Amino acid sequence: MKLLIDNANIEDIKRVYEFYPIDGVTCNPTILLKEGKNPYELLKEIREFIGEESQLHVQVISSKAEDMIEEGHKIQEILGKNTYIKIPVIPEGLKAIKYLASEGANVTGTAIYNQIQGYLAGKAGAKYVAPYVNRIDNLGYNGIAVAKQIHDMLKRASLETEVIAASFKNSHQVLELCEYGIGASTIAPDVIEGLIKSDTITTAVDAFVNDFEKLCGENATML
Ligand code: E4P
Repeated sequence: MKLLIDNANIEDIKRVYEFYPIDGVTCNPTILLKEGKNPYELLKEIREFIGEESQLHVQVISSKAEDMIEEGHKIQEILGKNTYIKIPVIPEGLKAIKYLASEGANVTGTAIYNQIQGYLAGKAGAKYVAPYVNRIDNLGYNGIAVAKQIHDMLKRASLETEVIAASFKNSHQVLELCEYGIGASTIAPDVIEGLIKSDTITTAVDAFVNDFEKLCGENATML
């Protein structure tokens, strides 16, 4: 499973990249608002830090397909290789996805709350489709089940589209989709950092250090 950071704070991105095996960054207009900076200036800074080998998913704002396509072209032009144009899966969005995909662009279908949105975006040529796991849960449905069903539908239809699950609030949601073989998950920094945060693990590691120090003296290592 590819692991992406769902955030645009450059300090958070740098910190998480330092410690975790990360494949890219995703954002949406709400995430950009939190930073309060010029969007393209910030996104260029993020691209420069993560490099061209990492994915960068950036959302269009327009509501008409023609305008979404124009925005998509600009996003690609400015942010370069390995940039994914995030397009909401509404009728105008599907039209834009079909067009941009036919040009060979990397497209991510977003704002996915049900299975059929995911399937249609995949069939229209999106490389990724992003079901919003936690938001679906909050509607009283099962976000994990929706993500799994979209994954299965895409595989059964022999489409190359992968699910990039989004909107996580806890580690267990991530674990369940990782175990299922979902293509990618995009996760806020605090949830990524919570994945292996555990007093039990820290206590076990500290005990090993203490035992070695008893054997070889304070601050001793294998050096
Ligand atoms: C990603 O594509 C979504 O924009 C994002 O994960 C939504 O997350 P939220 O539900 O925490 O806002």
